[in-house]
Amino acid sequence: MTSFWSIWVVVLTLACLVLIFGLLVWNLKNYAGVEEGESCGHQFDGIEELNNPLPKWWTYMFFATFVWAVYYLAAYPGLGNWEGLGQWTSSNQGIKSLAESKQAVIDAKAAGKTVQLDVEMRNADEKFGPLFESFAKRDIPDLVGDEKALEIGQRLFSQNCAQCHGSDARGGQGYPNLTDTDWLYGGTPAKIKESILNGRNAQMPPWHGALGDQGVKEMTAHVLSLSGRKVNQKDAKAGEAKFAMCSACHGADGKGSFAHNLPFGAPDLTDKVWLYGGSQRAVEDSIAKGRAGVMPAWKEILGEDKVHLISAYVYSLSNSK
Ligand code: HEC
Ligand code: HEC
Repeated sequence: MTSFWSIWVVVLTLACLVLIFGLLVWNLKNYAGVEEGESCGHQFDGIEELNNPLPKWWTYMFFATFVWAVYYLAAYPGLGNWEGLGQWTSSNQGIKSLAESKQAVIDAKAAGKTVQLDVEMRNADEKFGPLFESFAKRDIPDLVGDEKALEIGQRLFSQNCAQCHGSDARGGQGYPNLTDTDWLYGGTPAKIKESILNGRNAQMPPWHGALGDQGVKEMTAHVLSLSGRKVNQKDAKAGEAKFAMCSACHGADGKGSFAHNLPFGAPDLTDKVWLYGGSQRAVEDSIAKGRAGVMPAWKEILGEDKVHLISAYVYSLSNSK
């Protein structure tokens, strides 16, 4: 917050408190000019207004909330840029890895700060750490038969992966479906875990420079013909003749990296599953401009034990027992 807004918040908040306090004190005075319990001299529909004082219990409660407000604003952060006397924060901001997070915990402890998130993480680690460790010792295919492991894996998936792969893991434009057997990098437990731990960077180069408009059109016709689509035969033939430039990654038959045990993550072009869409426009775009899907690495963010459980969950989606 800039200091202008900080001062703005501080002044408004304190002014509000003073105003409310003043209102309460003013109301405690007998300003009606008659004895307590006597009539003020008005009647509304036959109901007479008496000069009654504020109830004691209510007044004390009001004072108590006031004292609480002052204590809370002094002890905790929130009043503009005020950090609070209690050295309390909800979390460490801007943390990007487990290592940074561990360092932040050490620093906060040394400075005598209470970081709420750390406290909760510590409690969670004490409670669930041994459970994660015991799961981490077991093989992924074995965990597929363990309902508890899959339940935790699914929850971790919803929190960390669903924004890209969808809550049902069926993916979307540019994000692969994880429930089918059509893999970019491989669907064995080891390959899935490797994808999640280290991430993946797909590099499909742009071909417009090498092929030109006509070349892209011909290559698109050939690619579409691989999955049995009706295309201009002349164009497809011309595309096929140049497909050698694609086969290093997609394989000479176009069946993709995975089918040929290659590490590039190039999709199978002969099936009807499309990562970026199977319309003529989308395929032309893929070829002309290239594609570079990024799967983030999770090793430093979640740690290996949690990745192991998520891997079991992902593996279970296409290999349920
Ligand atoms: C920021 C978006 C994003 C997030 C978050 C994300 N992924 Fe991915 N993931 C991708 C993309 C994009 C790819 C495909 C990479 C490519 O194009 O080659 C991918 C690929 C994968 C693959 C390889 C699929 C194959 O066919 O070989 C697996 C497995 C996977 N993700 C699992 C996960 C899991 C588990 C999580 C959560 C811990 C996760 N992803 C979180 C974007 C994401
Ligand atoms: C260096 C390896 C490499 C070469 C060479 C290559 N590709 Fe690719 N291709 C990939 C990768 C990797 C992807 C996946 C991109 C992603 O996941 O973001 C891909 C994706 C595609 C797609 C999108 C598929 C889908 O499911 O949406 C098409 C179409 C395609 N390539 C066609 C070609 C054609 C045609 C050529 C030759 C002119 C070619 N590629 C050459 C690596 C390659």
